[in-house]
Amino acid sequence: MSLNTALVRKDLRAAFIGRRLVSLPSATSTQDVARAEAEAGVPEGTVFLAEEQTAGRGRLGRSWASPSGANLYLTLVMRPTVERLRSLSIVAPLATAQAVEETTGLVPSIKWPNDVLVGGRKLAGILIETELSGASVSYSLVGIGLNVNLDVDRVPEIAGVATSLKRELGCEVSRETVLAQLLNRFEVLYLEAAQGAAVHQAWRSRLETLGRRVRVTFGQQVEEGLAEDVDAEGSLILRRRDGSRVTIAAGEVTLR
Ligand code: BTN
Repeated sequence: MSLNTALVRKDLRAAFIGRRLVSLPSATSTQDVARAEAEAGVPEGTVFLAEEQTAGRGRLGRSWASPSGANLYLTLVMRPTVERLRSLSIVAPLATAQAVEETTGLVPSIKWPNDVLVGGRKLAGILIETELSGASVSYSLVGIGLNVNLDVDRVPEIAGVATSLKRELGCEVSRETVLAQLLNRFEVLYLEAAQGAAVHQAWRSRLETLGRRVRVTFGQQVEEGLAEDVDAEGSLILRRRDGSRVTIAAGEVTLR
């Protein structure tokens, strides 16, 4: 059944996130649709949603399995200042994790920087694409893919590593309820993140990466060591075997 946007609006308490909600039966990627509309000047907080994506994409050039009708595929158009840009990669996974917890009771963790996991399997992924204009941000596209009612075992390429709310709970979950709460939490956290350290602490406390020995790949570089902490910006602080430390802004973590 198609997602019912009237039901989402009923539970939406956010003032600007999701107030404009554009729901499409199909898109190549909601990032593509959002980019064209962001260029045309849609206001901050506009959300593009698709029932299916024919070319859904993930980080690092990967694809994102996007079959019809079961999941949430959305992109939020944000227009942060440069100073607030980094907070998006904290706010997006945290809002997703909190919305899942509040609507289902599951307690997701976050794999640095922004994968949302349940029981060590990936429940949701975040893709943030930013367009700069000189030194300022024109717009930032926050893409969120959340496996809600997907029968993960029927998608061979992710069957061993992914999960869905349905797989975890053993029953179908209302996509509308989860989406409304995700948008509500996103707005609260985005506004709070500008005020102090509480949002960063809430994100940090869900990070399953800290205290583990990891390998981090970023660009052509690979670093190995103990994931010691994250800094105020959300970068990962890694302690190498020789005792030196390296700070990594973004990358792909695998456990050692
Ligand atoms: C990742 O973990 O690699 C990020 C996955 C992001 C997937 C979402 S689904 C909505 C939006 N549109 C896309 O094509 N990708 C993002």
